[in-house]
Amino acid sequence: MKKSIRIVVTAGPTREHLDPVRFLSNPSTGKMGFAIAAEAARRGHDVTLVAGPVSLETPRGVKRVDVVSAREMLAAAVEAVEASAASGGCAFIATAAVADWRPARCAARKLKKGSMSATLQLRRNPDVLKTVSRLARRLAPASFKLVGFAAETGDPVAEASRKCREKRLSFIVANDVTEKGCGFGTDTNRVVFVYPDGSERRFPLMSKRRVAANIIKEIEQC
Ligand code: PMT
Repeated sequence: MKKSIRIVVTAGPTREHLDPVRFLSNPSTGKMGFAIAAEAARRGHDVTLVAGPVSLETPRGVKRVDVVSAREMLAAAVEAVEASAASGGCAFIATAAVADWRPARCAARKLKKGSMSATLQLRRNPDVLKTVSRLARRLAPASFKLVGFAAETGDPVAEASRKCREKRLSFIVANDVTEKGCGFGTDTNRVVFVYPDGSERRFPLMSKRRVAANIIKEIEQC
């Protein structure tokens, strides 16, 4: 029987508010991340899903933590990974489309049009995956599997390969979000697994559920 792994998955977008009714975000629906969480739980793993604002039901057997912003996602991911590491290592799969920037200030009340500037001051958000990668190397270097996603436009592999090395991942799942049937909001995806040594494994267009199964199998084997 295969060993149960503790798996932490991030999914969906983040929202970076500039006031209670306005935010910066992106079109991620969470489908890819929720499919991974569902498949991992179905295969008997212990799954924590850190989800940005999406309207999907929690997959059966999955522990879910809802967050809104990148900083909240970071805090929830670190907490889940630390808890998993204490019991012997885990896998972290980052499918979330985390906003790289947030407004420098968030007003407590709705901004009046007349009082808003046409220029938005931004601050850099933390990189959730990079931070978890550093933490994993400190906590349990031998027993952590780190999997990123790379949302690219055009040939996804070169950029994905750079991100895989920079974030020190076990592998990265590259997808071209401009291709029909791929990326944001679709039920299918066409992905390439890219490894730190530059090698790759290409898949045809398939359901996100099958993509999820391939990712979980790869983690079980590596
Ligand atoms: O949710 P769906 O509608 O199903 O859409 C799926 C998807 C298109 C969102 C998914 O397949 C995908 O490509 N996810 C990654 C999106 C992304 O932000 O990619 P990136 O290349 O900008 O980031 C690279 C990696 O770093 C990702 O694993 C990302 O989660 C992580 N990251 C990025 C920025 C940041 N501040 N923190 C991060 O953790």
